[in-house]
This record gives sequence, C-alpha cells and structure tokens, in this order.
Amino acid sequence: MPARIAVFTGGGDAPGLNAVIRAVTRTAILNYGWEVYGIRDGLEGVLLDRPDGVVRLNLHTVSEILPRGGTILGTVNRADPRLYTVQGGRTVVTDWAKERLRSWVKGQGIKGVVAIGGDGTMNIGYQLFEAGIPLVGVPKTIDNDLMGTDLTFGFDSAIDVATDALDRLRTTARSHKRVMVLEVMGRNAGWIALHAGVAGGAHVILLPEISFRLEAVCHALRQRWQRGSQYALVVVAEGAYPVGGAPIYHEIGGKKRLGGVGEWLAQCIYEVCGYEARAVVLGHLQRGGSPSAFDRILATQYGVAAVRCVASGTFGVMVGLHGKGIQHVPLSDVVGRQKIVAPDDPLVDIARDLGVAFGDEGEDNPA
Ligand code: F6P
Repeated sequence: MPARIAVFTGGGDAPGLNAVIRAVTRTAILNYGWEVYGIRDGLEGVLLDRPDGVVRLNLHTVSEILPRGGTILGTVNRADPRLYTVQGGRTVVTDWAKERLRSWVKGQGIKGVVAIGGDGTMNIGYQLFEAGIPLVGVPKTIDNDLMGTDLTFGFDSAIDVATDALDRLRTTARSHKRVMVLEVMGRNAGWIALHAGVAGGAHVILLPEISFRLEAVCHALRQRWQRGSQYALVVVAEGAYPVGGAPIYHEIGGKKRLGGVGEWLAQCIYEVCGYEARAVVLGHLQRGGSPSAFDRILATQYGVAAVRCVASGTFGVMVGLHGKGIQHVPLSDVVGRQKIVAPDDPLVDIARDLGVAFGDEGEDNPA
C-alpha cells in the first residue's frame, strides 16, 4: 500500500493556500508516489467525523488551483475549541481531540500531517505533535507576524492590494484636497501598514508598535499643506493607537475584532487641523483574490519543503524562509511569540529619511 499524507488549512484565509495544497499534492504523488488526503474546514473534517470530512486529493483536483484565492479545503478562524475545555474559569487542554486525531492518523496509515496556518494553527499543531502526531507546519498569514520565518505567504499579496488602494486614493485625495486615511489589517503587527505605506508613498504611517500623538500627525499634515501639497495619504494599522490610548475594537457576532481607528483618526484630523478627511477600511479585500507571483512561488516552495520533511521523518517543525533558502525550525520556537515591527526596523528608518511621519514622540518630520 502506498504511503499516505494529510493536509489541512487553519485560521483566516490568505492568498496562496491553494498553491501550497497543490505543491504538497503534486510533490507527494509525483516525487514519492504517496496518496494525499485533504481534511476539510481546519481539522473539523476529522474531529466531527463528517462523512465528507476528508477528501482524496489527486493531480486532477489540484489542477488550476494555483492562482485561486481562498482554500479548496475550507478553514475555520478560531483556536479549535474542541482542543480545550474551560474548567473553573481556567482553560484546560483536553485530550479527546488529540486522541481522535491520533487514532485517525494511525488507522489511516498517515505518515505525516501538513498543517497550513498562522499562530493559532501552529499552536494547535505543536500540541498535536507533542501528543505524538507527525506534523509539519507551513506559515501562512497576511499579517507576517509569525516567528521562525522571514516571510509568511499571503503577506506580499496583501501589500499589493493595500498599495493599489493607496494609488487609487491618491488621485481622489489630490482632486479634493483631502486627507485619505487607509486602515489596513495586521492585528498587533504593523507589517502591512509599513510595507504598503512605503510602496504607496504614504505621508503618514501609523503602527501598533509606535504609539502616535495626534498633535505630531497634525503637525506633519500642516507642514505638508504649508509646502503647497494640499492632500495627504495616511496608512493606519488596525491595531495602532495614540500614546496613552488603546486599540479600538468592535464586536461582530459576539466576537471582538480590531477596527475603527481609521474613522476615528479622520474625524480627529478634521477637528484638529480643519482638513477634510475620509477613511477607508480595506478589510478582507486584503485576504481575497489571487496570490501575487511572489506568494505563489513562496507557497510552492513551502509545500515542497513540507513534503520533504515528511519524507525525511522531520516532524514538530515549521518550514520557513531564511534569507534566500527554505529551512525548518522547531514549532516550540514559533508558538507563543509574535514577530512585530521593531521601532528601528530598517524600513522604518528608510521611511523616516524619506520624510514619512510616524507620529511619535518628538517627531517633526515634514510629511
Ligand atoms: O490574522 C489575519 C487577519 O486578517 C487579521 O489581520 C485581522 O485582524 C483578522 O484576521 C480578522 O479576522 P476575521 O476574518 O475573523 O474577522
């Protein structure tokens, strides 16, 4: 009987998920002669014992999915509650889900499970590995906030979308002599805001890692107006907040989600500077659609590398980009940590040299 491997996608979707699934499937079949099984909707396909919860992947099922956004396997964006129970107010890891997966893996003769996801998925993957499940992680998220890799796939595509939005906002901002505020995703990491801000020539970039002063933002805008450039582009990460303040959340379906800082900022800019301002929330447009060429290549490299790990019996690791090469790092080095923008990140320094304002203490950069 040929060896078998399984693959699943967890957490929020990101462009490039299908490219990984395709690379895993093609490499496993063509290079190793294995059978490939896709678990649907995170791990729910197996955990909930659904009749259609696991699908056999072949060259036909993965043909033409390389450029397609989303994930053909479906995903769930929450730490799987079935791995936990709350007892006396404390979250306790339970074993039944691990046991269920372990017996499925054993019963099906699965030699390795490829887990494609972000921090939540890597966390669960680590627990599953510790419980004896042979697992390899593949780093995905538009936020680029995973440790253990220079880049996650999905990030480059998200920057492209945000940069395109800035290009479009520039023409309308200039026509109306307005400040256009673009709120981008990224949770507590400002990578999307920073990279798209530089690529799109934003005049002010506000990050969760550098709390800003409204007065410094307005000072930068006023200076720009005085120099005769009577419009401005501001990129604000959804998790950014002013000195002494806190990130803004809203509630959707009983869950707290970051969002709203763009609208708040536009209102403040109008009130303090008197400039007309509008806010745009880019939201899930950053996650949808076709992956960039860069993300297709990165996702493909990750998929092939993950299968090679399974072939060599290297488990409990996440593949990642280090410099120009793909290496793997122990999942224990990845989980429970977040890669955020250092205030002296080289790109922050470059942006400052260009005159971009970050609104921080003592800043008097012209915008
Ligand atoms: O982690 C990816 C991400 O898109 C974040 O940038 C954002 O804060 C969050 O997910 C949104 O989650 P949801 O799709 O569940 O609203």
